[in-house]
Amino acid sequence: MLNIGVIGAGRMGLNHSRNLRQLDTIKLAGVYDILPEKATAYANEFGAKIYQSPEELINAKDIGLIIITSPTYCHIEALRIALDAHKPIFCEKPLCRTQEELDELIPLITNYDNFFALGFVRRYSPNFAKMKEVVDSGELGKLLCGEIRCLHGRYVRMHGDWFADYDKCGGVMLDMLAHHVDLQNHLIGEAESIYAQSFMLNQNEDELPFDYVSATARFKNGFISNIQCSWLRNAPSDTEMTICGDKASITFSDSKGLLLTKGGKTEKIPVDEAALNIHKIQGGMYAEEMAYIVDAVINGKKPLAGAKEAIDAMTFCFGMMTSAETGELVKF
Ligand SMILES: NC(=O)c1ccc[n+]([C@@H]2O[C@H](COP(=O)([O-])OP(=O)(O)OC[C@H]3O[C@@H](n4cnc5c(N)ncnc54)[C@H](O)[C@@H]3O)[C@@H](O)[C@H]2O)c1
Repeated sequence: MLNIGVIGAGRMGLNHSRNLRQLDTIKLAGVYDILPEKATAYANEFGAKIYQSPEELINAKDIGLIIITSPTYCHIEALRIALDAHKPIFCEKPLCRTQEELDELIPLITNYDNFFALGFVRRYSPNFAKMKEVVDSGELGKLLCGEIRCLHGRYVRMHGDWFADYDKCGGVMLDMLAHHVDLQNHLIGEAESIYAQSFMLNQNEDELPFDYVSATARFKNGFISNIQCSWLRNAPSDTEMTICGDKASITFSDSKGLLLTKGGKTEKIPVDEAALNIHKIQGGMYAEEMAYIVDAVINGKKPLAGAKEAIDAMTFCFGMMTSAETGELVKF
């Protein structure tokens, strides 16, 4: 039985726990939340023991996996303790809020002698697995350019919410794009430079918070990527990523599925949806991710996204943010 301790019993802490409790190999054994009422609600729902500090939970002898689902700007404090305790760790994305925190974490997670995974849930999508297979098969020919479009047009967060504070969540450049940046890195390789313009989650109290970024990146293999992402209030919503080669192009779209464009025609690529429920639990990608993590910890397997993937994606996102903040091109 794998005993799990959750740090941060908010939206994602609850979501992961509701997926996890379908597995008979785990026990939701402990919880810490800075707000006692959140910890109590969690303990009432899952029967977990409430701990009074992250140190106490992480160092409890029976806790065998730490799940970090506190707000992004708080990840570092839990990570420091969990890495020092050499316990298996699953941390929600983004890994951390600042480049300085990333610099501190790089040596710690690169040489970590235990399980370390970051919550890049889209890695567990069968659509993405198929997209990777097509890109790696060479069917697209020479990879030339692509697009990431993550548009959210019904943003509802208000001032005072950590999710509406650029210093705490990093806005769309960090919070939203971390997922697709990771996927793009996995498909294309290492980035060379990036230039970005963004509202950096406007902090003007006279307006409701909103955010937008438009960025262009160049990769070491010459690939050029156009990136757009938004948190707007009255705008279209859509999420898709396209990779164009000189022989064909592929699009991974949340609304349309996986599409191949070749010879002037666009066709849907069939995807094995059963791959989304290998572990036979309800909850889609997020449930599959949790089942994979538990299986990996118990059976000594690697996660789909570990230290290297975390570092590469965070380096790209922080480069994008530095460019937006300074107005300068950032070279990696
Ligand atoms: N993978 C995904 O698709 C996905 C989706 C949403 C959020 N996230 C990430 O998950 C993390 C949590 O987001 P959320 O939406 O659950 O936030 P949330 O605000 O709903 O929950 C955070 C919880 O952490 C608690 N908390 C605050 N400070 C704390 C601290 N120092 N130590 C312990 N607990 C603390 C809060 O009281 C709250 O209960 C963020 O990093 C976010 O970016 C990932």
